[in-house]
Amino acid sequence: MKVQFTETVLRDAQQSLIATRLPFEQFESILETINKAGYYSIECWGGATFDSCLRFLNEDPWERLIKIKKKCPDTKLQMLLRGQNLLGYRHYPDDVVKKFVENSVECGIDIIRIFDALNDLTNIKVSLEETIKRGAIASAAISYTTSPVHTIKKFAEMAKEMAKMGAQTICIKDMAGVMSPKEAYDLVSAIKDAIPDTPLVVHTHSTTGLAFMTYLKAVEAGADIIDTAISSMSGGTSQPATETLAYALRQLGYEVDLDDKVLIEVNNHFKPIRDSFLADGTLNPLVMATDTQALNYKIPGGMLSNLISQLTAQKAMDKLDAVLTETPKVRKDLGYPPLVTPMSQMVGVQATYNVLLGERYKTVGKEVKAYCKGEYGKAPGKIDPKVMEKALQGEKPIEGRYADTLEPQFEKTKKELKGIAKNDRDVLSYIAFPQVAEKFFEKRKEKEENEVTYTIEEIKD
Ligand code: CO
Repeated sequence: MKVQFTETVLRDAQQSLIATRLPFEQFESILETINKAGYYSIECWGGATFDSCLRFLNEDPWERLIKIKKKCPDTKLQMLLRGQNLLGYRHYPDDVVKKFVENSVECGIDIIRIFDALNDLTNIKVSLEETIKRGAIASAAISYTTSPVHTIKKFAEMAKEMAKMGAQTICIKDMAGVMSPKEAYDLVSAIKDAIPDTPLVVHTHSTTGLAFMTYLKAVEAGADIIDTAISSMSGGTSQPATETLAYALRQLGYEVDLDDKVLIEVNNHFKPIRDSFLADGTLNPLVMATDTQALNYKIPGGMLSNLISQLTAQKAMDKLDAVLTETPKVRKDLGYPPLVTPMSQMVGVQATYNVLLGERYKTVGKEVKAYCKGEYGKAPGKIDPKVMEKALQGEKPIEGRYADTLEPQFEKTKKELKGIAKNDRDVLSYIAFPQVAEKFFEKRKEKEENEVTYTIEEIKD
């Protein structure tokens, strides 16, 4: 049996370890090597990379993708898409979702992994169908979580429904690294029973130390593809190491297509990069350690590091344990949403309010209010009526799909950005992150003007 690998170093690994701060120039020279490693796919775009490019790295995310594609023509490029949320934190109208998918595929994406934080399938439908229409592979992801309302039977039914919707592969996305080897075995078995012909991907994080065992049992149960990170950027809140899993699985008789020599080169490239992020403090050694607390708190890697930096900024790190205890309580009150973006931030911020203000729901976060209204989709379980009342304050919840209430936005914005946006992709960047994109456009313009001056001077010389 064959096991295939998706390399996450360019997206999830760097997102989980160094808050997505890896600039293109630091990995450009290794792309041609990565392309030869034998990966099933390279996860390199989407998630927080888009926002981070514009906000912190002064890079055009679309340009980054085009440049990666040029250097990696032989391996499928993969992105993570938050369904109707695209790469942002709120729902966008369908015309924007379709345009975004169209442009992503045009710029080089081969596989779009689509998930909805609440597993509300009406939120992944439009992007999934558009992905297929544009000729890319649509991979539908189940946001894995455990709660009284999330059962193996329900997840297997969900997978079947996703396949019916047209998903070419299914992914079990364990963003918190809480899926145990037994749970993985049972869940993969159940999904494989339900849809034996659909390739199944398993995605987890090393946060709790379960990941290697979880992947092993998932593979034993029939998982086809696993997500791993090159060893120097693996472990802790990132994925388990690519090389280690290739080594172990091969010995167990599985066919693994990876080229070990190439992997060494890739790893040698990222080792000094990891060390420099450690040295400048971007990489906190804490996030590389095993933390079994997450088994109780069910907190994904990114969320944990966010909470730590939030509390550090407010000089309230002594409240970390209290916030970590409050988090699952808030989650229960909200009907057990899986703790993935944007629910993880929503629940984290609310738990922080509840602890720091000394009274639960004294302040209800804007996002929690929108969630209770139904702006994120249907909650997996029942929202606590008292919290619901505090959040809505007399307002009525939305019936049906929130995106249906939104006006088309793309053409209108395109007109507004005449003279500022260079192409449709700029318009999409702006719709996704208006202020951030505006600043980026200004800086880009400045840079271009400087470059022109420089060239003229050069000619004079
Ligand atoms: Co992840």
